Amino acid sequence: MQAENFSLWMLGIQQDMEHTLAALLPDAAHAPRALHGAMRYSTLEGGKRVRPLLVYAAGELTGASEKNLARIAAAVELIHVYSLIHDDMPCMDDDVLRRGKATCHIAFDEATALLSGDALQTLAFDLLSQPMDGISPATQLAMVQTLARASGHAGMAGGQAIDLASVGQALSLPELEYMHLMKTGALIRASVMLGALAGTPLATDERATLDHFAKCMGLAFQVVDDVLDVDADSQALGKTAGKDAANDKPTYVSLMGLARAREFASELSSDAYTALEPFAEKAARLRQLGSYIVERSF
Ligand code: IPE
Ligand code: IPE
Ligand code: MG
Ligand code: MG
Ligand code: MG
Repeated sequence: MQAENFSLWMLGIQQDMEHTLAALLPDAAHAPRALHGAMRYSTLEGGKRVRPLLVYAAGELTGASEKNLARIAAAVELIHVYSLIHDDMPCMDDDVLRRGKATCHIAFDEATALLSGDALQTLAFDLLSQPMDGISPATQLAMVQTLARASGHAGMAGGQAIDLASVGQALSLPELEYMHLMKTGALIRASVMLGALAGTPLATDERATLDHFAKCMGLAFQVVDDVLDVDADSQALGKTAGKDAANDKPTYVSLMGLARAREFASELSSDAYTALEPFAEKAARLRQLGSYIVERSF
Protein backbone atom coordinates (compact mmCIF):
# COMPACT_ATOMS: atom_id res chain seq x y z
CA MET A 1 0.00 0.00 0.00
CA GLN A 2 2.74 2.40 1.02
CA ALA A 3 4.83 1.35 -2.00
CA GLU A 4 1.87 1.86 -4.31
CA ASN A 5 1.23 5.26 -2.80
CA PHE A 6 4.89 6.23 -3.34
CA SER A 7 4.84 5.05 -6.97
CA LEU A 8 1.77 7.19 -7.68
CA TRP A 9 3.32 10.21 -5.98
CA MET A 10 6.51 9.74 -7.98
CA LEU A 11 4.65 9.33 -11.26
CA GLY A 12 2.57 12.44 -10.59
CA ILE A 13 5.67 14.57 -10.02
CA GLN A 14 7.47 13.09 -13.02
CA GLN A 15 4.47 14.03 -15.19
CA ASP A 16 4.18 17.53 -13.70
CA MET A 17 7.89 18.04 -14.29
CA GLU A 18 7.54 17.05 -17.92
CA HIS A 19 4.82 19.67 -18.45
CA THR A 20 6.65 22.35 -16.47
CA LEU A 21 9.91 21.80 -18.35
CA ALA A 22 8.18 21.62 -21.74
CA ALA A 23 6.55 24.99 -21.07
CA LEU A 24 9.74 26.64 -19.78
CA LEU A 25 12.16 25.51 -22.49
CA PRO A 26 12.54 27.59 -25.66
CA ASP A 27 10.43 26.69 -28.69
CA ALA A 28 12.32 24.44 -31.13
CA ALA A 29 10.53 26.16 -34.02
CA HIS A 30 12.30 29.43 -33.13
CA ALA A 31 15.89 30.21 -34.12
CA PRO A 32 18.49 29.17 -33.19
CA ARG A 33 16.59 25.95 -33.84
CA ALA A 34 19.41 23.44 -33.33
CA LEU A 35 20.22 24.94 -29.91
CA HIS A 36 16.59 25.01 -28.82
CA GLY A 37 15.98 21.55 -30.26
CA ALA A 38 18.99 20.13 -28.40
CA MET A 39 17.89 21.69 -25.10
CA ARG A 40 14.45 20.11 -25.46
CA TYR A 41 15.81 16.79 -26.76
CA SER A 42 18.09 16.27 -23.76
CA THR A 43 15.69 17.53 -21.10
CA LEU A 44 12.33 16.08 -22.10
CA GLU A 45 11.07 12.49 -22.14
CA GLY A 46 13.69 10.87 -20.01
CA GLY A 47 15.34 10.53 -16.67
CA LYS A 48 14.09 9.52 -13.27
CA ARG A 49 13.80 13.16 -12.07
CA VAL A 50 15.33 12.21 -8.72
CA ARG A 51 16.45 15.76 -7.95
CA PRO A 52 12.97 17.24 -8.57
CA LEU A 53 11.51 14.45 -6.41
CA LEU A 54 13.87 15.46 -3.61
CA VAL A 55 12.88 19.12 -3.99
CA TYR A 56 9.18 18.17 -3.65
CA ALA A 57 9.73 15.78 -0.74
CA ALA A 58 11.78 18.34 1.19
CA GLY A 59 9.20 21.01 0.35
CA GLU A 60 6.52 18.74 1.80
CA LEU A 61 8.49 18.72 5.04
CA THR A 62 8.32 22.53 5.35
CA GLY A 63 4.87 23.05 3.81
CA ALA A 64 6.10 24.78 0.64
CA SER A 65 3.69 25.61 -2.20
CA GLU A 66 3.64 23.22 -5.17
CA LYS A 67 3.82 26.08 -7.64
CA ASN A 68 7.11 27.32 -6.22
CA LEU A 69 8.44 23.77 -5.86
CA ALA A 70 7.77 23.11 -9.55
CA ARG A 71 9.87 26.13 -10.51
CA ILE A 72 12.71 25.20 -8.14
CA ALA A 73 12.65 21.55 -9.18
CA ALA A 74 12.81 22.54 -12.86
CA ALA A 75 15.85 24.76 -12.18
CA VAL A 76 17.71 21.90 -10.48
CA GLU A 77 16.81 19.44 -13.23
CA LEU A 78 18.13 21.84 -15.89
CA ILE A 79 21.49 22.01 -14.11
CA HIS A 80 21.51 18.21 -13.94
CA VAL A 81 20.73 17.83 -17.65
CA TYR A 82 23.46 20.31 -18.53
CA SER A 83 25.90 18.22 -16.46
CA LEU A 84 24.85 15.04 -18.28
CA ILE A 85 25.25 16.60 -21.74
CA HIS A 86 28.79 17.75 -20.92
CA ASP A 87 29.62 14.50 -19.05
CA ASP A 88 28.85 12.51 -22.20
CA MET A 89 31.00 14.59 -24.56
CA PRO A 90 34.16 13.08 -26.09
CA CYS A 91 36.36 15.33 -23.91
CA MET A 92 34.79 13.78 -20.79
CA ASP A 93 33.25 10.26 -20.64
CA ASP A 94 32.72 9.94 -24.41
CA ASP A 95 29.32 8.27 -24.30
CA VAL A 96 26.85 7.69 -27.14
CA LEU A 97 23.77 6.63 -25.14
CA ARG A 98 21.83 8.64 -22.53
CA ARG A 99 18.29 8.11 -21.26
CA GLY A 100 17.78 5.47 -23.96
CA LYS A 101 18.61 7.84 -26.83
CA ALA A 102 21.70 9.07 -28.66
CA THR A 103 23.65 11.55 -26.54
CA CYS A 104 23.26 15.22 -27.40
CA HIS A 105 26.57 15.60 -29.28
CA ILE A 106 25.71 12.52 -31.39
CA ALA A 107 22.12 13.57 -32.15
CA PHE A 108 23.27 17.17 -32.87
CA ASP A 109 26.97 18.08 -32.84
CA GLU A 110 29.62 18.91 -30.24
CA ALA A 111 29.30 22.68 -30.45
CA THR A 112 25.51 22.46 -30.08
CA ALA A 113 25.89 20.08 -27.12
CA LEU A 114 28.34 22.43 -25.43
CA LEU A 115 26.10 25.44 -25.98
CA SER A 116 22.91 23.69 -24.96
CA GLY A 117 24.57 22.76 -21.65
CA ASP A 118 25.62 26.39 -21.20
CA ALA A 119 22.13 27.64 -22.04
CA LEU A 120 20.40 25.14 -19.73
CA GLN A 121 22.61 26.28 -16.89
CA THR A 122 21.79 29.95 -17.33
CA LEU A 123 18.09 29.17 -17.85
CA ALA A 124 18.14 27.43 -14.45
CA PHE A 125 19.32 30.62 -12.73
CA ASP A 126 16.88 32.72 -14.74
CA LEU A 127 14.01 30.55 -13.43
CA LEU A 128 15.23 30.51 -9.87
CA SER A 129 15.62 34.30 -9.75
CA GLN A 130 12.11 35.15 -10.96
CA PRO A 131 9.78 36.32 -8.14
CA MET A 132 8.01 33.51 -6.27
CA ASP A 133 4.83 34.03 -4.24
CA GLY A 134 5.44 33.97 -0.50
CA ILE A 135 9.22 33.71 -0.76
CA SER A 136 11.23 36.75 0.32
CA PRO A 137 13.95 38.17 -1.93
CA ALA A 138 16.50 37.31 0.79
CA THR A 139 15.43 33.65 0.81
CA GLN A 140 15.50 33.58 -2.95
CA LEU A 141 19.02 34.98 -2.99
CA ALA A 142 19.98 32.20 -0.59
CA MET A 143 18.46 29.70 -3.06
CA VAL A 144 20.41 31.13 -5.99
CA GLN A 145 23.59 30.95 -3.94
CA THR A 146 22.86 27.37 -2.86
CA LEU A 147 22.39 26.22 -6.45
CA ALA A 148 25.40 28.19 -7.73
CA ARG A 149 27.73 26.75 -5.09
CA ALA A 150 26.47 23.20 -5.59
CA SER A 151 27.04 23.43 -9.36
CA GLY A 152 30.39 25.18 -9.51
CA HIS A 153 34.04 24.65 -8.63
CA ALA A 154 33.27 23.61 -5.06
CA GLY A 155 30.50 21.23 -6.17
CA MET A 156 29.55 19.42 -9.36
CA ALA A 157 32.04 21.02 -11.77
CA GLY A 158 34.87 20.62 -9.26
CA GLY A 159 33.93 16.97 -8.73
CA GLN A 160 33.87 16.36 -12.47
CA ALA A 161 37.36 17.87 -12.72
CA ILE A 162 38.61 15.47 -10.03
CA ASP A 163 36.85 12.57 -11.77
CA LEU A 164 38.66 13.30 -15.04
CA ALA A 165 42.00 13.79 -13.30
CA SER A 166 41.55 10.42 -11.54
CA VAL A 167 41.41 8.23 -14.64
CA GLY A 168 43.77 5.31 -14.21
CA GLN A 169 44.50 6.18 -10.60
CA ALA A 170 43.80 4.16 -7.46
CA LEU A 171 42.15 6.69 -5.16
CA SER A 172 41.96 6.10 -1.43
CA LEU A 173 38.49 5.70 0.06
CA PRO A 174 38.45 9.25 1.53
CA GLU A 175 39.53 10.65 -1.86
CA LEU A 176 36.79 8.76 -3.68
CA GLU A 177 34.20 9.86 -1.14
CA TYR A 178 35.30 13.48 -1.56
CA MET A 179 35.00 13.24 -5.35
CA HIS A 180 31.54 11.63 -5.22
CA LEU A 181 30.25 14.12 -2.65
CA MET A 182 31.23 16.91 -5.00
CA LYS A 183 30.32 15.60 -8.46
CA THR A 184 26.93 14.13 -7.53
CA GLY A 185 26.33 14.73 -3.83
CA ALA A 186 26.42 18.52 -4.00
CA LEU A 187 23.44 18.83 -6.37
CA ILE A 188 21.43 16.19 -4.48
CA ARG A 189 22.13 18.03 -1.26
CA ALA A 190 21.14 21.35 -2.83
CA SER A 191 17.88 19.81 -4.09
CA VAL A 192 16.86 18.95 -0.53
CA MET A 193 17.93 22.32 0.86
CA LEU A 194 16.17 24.27 -1.91
CA GLY A 195 12.90 22.41 -1.40
CA ALA A 196 13.10 23.03 2.35
CA LEU A 197 13.93 26.73 1.88
CA ALA A 198 10.69 27.21 -0.06
CA GLY A 199 8.55 26.58 3.03
CA THR A 200 8.45 27.52 6.72
CA PRO A 201 12.04 28.14 7.89
CA LEU A 202 13.65 25.26 9.79
CA ALA A 203 15.48 25.73 13.07
CA THR A 204 19.28 25.58 12.81
CA ASP A 205 19.49 22.06 14.27
CA GLU A 206 16.69 20.84 11.98
CA ARG A 207 18.49 22.26 8.97
CA ALA A 208 21.71 20.52 10.00
CA THR A 209 20.01 17.17 10.45
CA LEU A 210 18.20 17.47 7.10
CA ASP A 211 21.51 18.35 5.48
CA HIS A 212 23.05 15.22 6.99
CA PHE A 213 20.28 13.15 5.39
CA ALA A 214 20.94 14.85 2.04
CA LYS A 215 24.71 14.38 2.25
CA CYS A 216 24.33 10.63 2.97
CA MET A 217 21.80 10.21 0.15
CA GLY A 218 23.98 12.16 -2.30
CA LEU A 219 26.88 9.83 -1.68
CA ALA A 220 24.63 6.75 -1.71
CA PHE A 221 23.21 7.85 -5.05
CA GLN A 222 26.63 7.82 -6.72
CA VAL A 223 27.66 4.56 -5.00
CA VAL A 224 24.55 2.94 -6.52
CA ASP A 225 25.35 4.54 -9.89
CA ASP A 226 28.80 2.88 -9.69
CA VAL A 227 27.17 -0.46 -8.74
CA LEU A 228 24.65 -0.32 -11.58
CA ASP A 229 27.39 0.47 -14.09
CA VAL A 230 28.71 -3.09 -13.53
CA ASP A 231 25.50 -4.79 -12.42
CA ALA A 232 22.88 -3.70 -14.97
CA ASP A 233 22.75 -3.71 -18.75
CA SER A 234 22.68 -0.77 -21.14
CA GLN A 235 19.06 -1.46 -22.06
CA ALA A 236 17.91 -1.17 -18.46
CA LEU A 237 20.15 1.80 -17.68
CA GLY A 238 19.46 3.74 -20.88
CA LYS A 239 23.20 4.47 -20.90
CA THR A 240 26.28 2.40 -21.71
CA ALA A 241 26.93 -0.17 -18.99
CA GLY A 242 30.51 -1.02 -18.08
CA LYS A 243 31.67 2.46 -18.99
CA ASP A 244 33.56 3.13 -15.74
CA ALA A 245 35.84 0.10 -16.17
CA ALA A 246 36.22 0.86 -19.89
CA ASN A 247 37.31 4.41 -19.03
CA ASP A 248 39.50 3.18 -16.14
CA LYS A 249 37.63 5.27 -13.54
CA PRO A 250 38.07 4.64 -9.85
CA THR A 251 34.64 3.78 -8.37
CA TYR A 252 33.23 2.24 -5.20
CA VAL A 253 33.05 -1.07 -7.03
CA SER A 254 36.66 -0.94 -8.22
CA LEU A 255 37.76 -0.02 -4.71
CA MET A 256 35.63 -2.25 -2.47
CA GLY A 257 33.95 -4.79 -4.76
CA LEU A 258 30.32 -5.11 -5.78
CA ALA A 259 28.86 -6.71 -2.65
CA ARG A 260 30.58 -4.33 -0.25
CA ALA A 261 29.61 -1.30 -2.36
CA ARG A 262 25.95 -2.36 -2.19
CA GLU A 263 26.25 -2.85 1.54
CA PHE A 264 27.88 0.57 1.91
CA ALA A 265 24.98 2.25 0.07
CA SER A 266 22.55 0.59 2.42
CA GLU A 267 24.60 1.67 5.48
CA LEU A 268 24.54 5.24 4.19
CA SER A 269 20.78 5.11 3.82
CA SER A 270 20.35 3.82 7.40
CA ASP A 271 22.45 6.72 8.61
CA ALA A 272 20.30 9.05 6.48
CA TYR A 273 17.00 7.71 7.93
CA THR A 274 18.28 8.20 11.48
CA ALA A 275 18.77 11.88 10.66
CA LEU A 276 15.08 12.09 9.67
CA GLU A 277 13.75 10.74 12.97
CA PRO A 278 13.07 14.17 14.56
CA PHE A 279 10.75 15.01 11.64
CA ALA A 280 8.59 11.90 12.17
CA GLU A 281 5.74 11.61 9.62
CA LYS A 282 6.58 14.89 7.89
CA ALA A 283 9.64 13.17 6.42
CA ALA A 284 7.74 10.11 5.14
CA ARG A 285 8.34 10.98 1.46
CA LEU A 286 12.03 11.67 2.00
CA ARG A 287 12.36 8.28 3.68
CA GLN A 288 10.58 6.51 0.79
CA LEU A 289 12.70 8.38 -1.71
CA GLY A 290 15.83 7.32 0.16
CA SER A 291 14.79 3.67 -0.22
CA TYR A 292 14.08 4.19 -3.90
CA ILE A 293 17.55 5.70 -4.43
CA VAL A 294 19.37 2.72 -2.95
CA GLU A 295 17.05 -0.01 -4.24
CA ARG A 296 16.59 1.24 -7.82
CA SER A 297 17.63 -0.97 -10.73
CA PHE A 298 18.39 1.82 -13.26
C1 IPE B 1 23.14 10.14 -13.59
O1 IPE B 1 22.10 10.72 -12.86
C2 IPE B 1 24.38 10.93 -13.38
C3 IPE B 1 24.83 10.98 -12.01
C4 IPE B 1 24.95 12.09 -11.37
C5 IPE B 1 25.18 9.76 -11.32
P1 IPE B 1 20.65 10.07 -12.85
O2 IPE B 1 20.76 8.60 -12.57
O3 IPE B 1 19.81 10.87 -11.93
O4 IPE B 1 20.18 10.27 -14.36
P2 IPE B 1 18.73 10.49 -14.95
O5 IPE B 1 18.38 11.92 -14.71
O6 IPE B 1 17.78 9.55 -14.28
O7 IPE B 1 18.87 10.22 -16.41
C1 IPE C 1 28.42 11.92 -13.59
O1 IPE C 1 28.87 10.75 -13.07
C2 IPE C 1 28.14 12.90 -12.59
C3 IPE C 1 27.71 14.17 -13.22
C4 IPE C 1 27.89 15.26 -12.60
C5 IPE C 1 27.04 14.20 -14.52
P1 IPE C 1 28.93 9.57 -14.12
O2 IPE C 1 29.83 9.88 -15.26
O3 IPE C 1 29.16 8.30 -13.37
O4 IPE C 1 27.41 9.58 -14.65
P2 IPE C 1 26.85 8.57 -15.74
O5 IPE C 1 27.10 7.19 -15.22
O6 IPE C 1 27.55 8.88 -17.02
O7 IPE C 1 25.38 8.88 -15.78
MG1 MG D 1 31.40 11.11 -15.60
MG1 MG E 1 29.44 9.51 -17.39
MG1 MG F 1 28.16 6.49 -13.69
